[in-house]
Amino acid sequence: MAKVELENVSKSYGTVEVIEGLNLTIEDGSFTVFVGPSGCGKSTLLRMIAGLEPITHGELQIDGARMNDADPIERGVAMVFQNYALYPHMTVEQNIGFSLRMAGLDKAAIAARVAAAAQTLQIEPLMARKPGQLSGGQRQRVAIGRAIVRDPEVFLFDEPLSNLDAELRVSMRVEIAKLHNKLGSTMIYVTHDQTEAMTLADKIVVMRAGKVEQSGTPEELYDNPDNLFVAGFIGSPRMNFLRGRFEGGALRLDAGGQLANAQQDVGEVVVGIRPEHFAVSEPGDGQLSVLVDVVENLGGTRYLYGSVASGEPVVIEVRDRPGIKAGDTVNIGIRADRAMLFHPNGERLRRAP
Ligand SMILES: Nc1ncnc2c1ncn2[C@@H]1O[C@H](COP(=O)(O)OP(=O)(O)O)[C@@H](O)[C@H]1O
Ligand SMILES: [Mg+2]
Repeated sequence: MAKVELENVSKSYGTVEVIEGLNLTIEDGSFTVFVGPSGCGKSTLLRMIAGLEPITHGELQIDGARMNDADPIERGVAMVFQNYALYPHMTVEQNIGFSLRMAGLDKAAIAARVAAAAQTLQIEPLMARKPGQLSGGQRQRVAIGRAIVRDPEVFLFDEPLSNLDAELRVSMRVEIAKLHNKLGSTMIYVTHDQTEAMTLADKIVVMRAGKVEQSGTPEELYDNPDNLFVAGFIGSPRMNFLRGRFEGGALRLDAGGQLANAQQDVGEVVVGIRPEHFAVSEPGDGQLSVLVDVVENLGGTRYLYGSVASGEPVVIEVRDRPGIKAGDTVNIGIRADRAMLFHPNGERLRRAP
């Protein structure tokens, strides 16, 4: 059982504050993902939880106990890094058992725990090899094995799949999800990749410049982002943003056309529409005209990349109408019930109740 709580946590390097007054509760047994652009403070936050980096202000609690000054070992956490950090001269078996030998466990106990971890990760045939004789995915499994044998309350992963090729990343992602189901431990996972966050997390924490922009389930962040940053960061291809303004009770888009049912007298707005929330209509009855530059065919789904009359780029998901090709002009409608409105300063404008 381990719940992790951060209360008003800050981190400064000299005079530069890289984490600002952050409050967060990570539930016991959850899979929580910190996601955000490079440099936003994800690793710093994880390292503060691990005890590898001192906390400048605020409090870290694990299961209700203050841990700011506790040794990494006392915290009951184990961390897996992007660059594996394996000892090159040791075998896989020795690498996995290393921390247990350091802790002074007897040989039989070490052997049993190493064997169990190897079985969980399906790396039994590799035990006598050295890291240099392993593929990237196998090395990352060994690195995870080193964490598993310590039987931690909390697993901390810092971009563990970023060094792997795309195909392997997908299969290792599934492995990590299975591991979480099997062990039931609290897992905190850092990535800059929103797809990884969406597929792994029960809770996503979106960070920017040392602050939490929004946290919630993947569905909550996708369906109901609080601001333009989260709206643009979560979802691939990303949400379309079209400029518009309210005039005489109607929302008129710079691209031409207008949206019904959206009554809010706030002047200029940014209208957010996900690629799947357009409808390609028959010639003549569309709201917007799109000049298609590129058609990306993924089999069942195709994405049309193009631009509207105002010059703003758009990406549209289509599942039928196979005839559309680059150079075509198509008419599209917007599903007004799914369009989201944002103030130009980035804040979401919620409809008045
Ligand atoms: N030891 C350090 N000294 C000074 N600045 C640092 C140090 N470590 C990280 N930073 C700065 O803190 C910010 C957050 O870094 P980091 O947590 O590594 O970001 P992320 O993991 O999200 O890419 C960055 O601006 C980085 O340059
Ligand atoms: Mg990092």
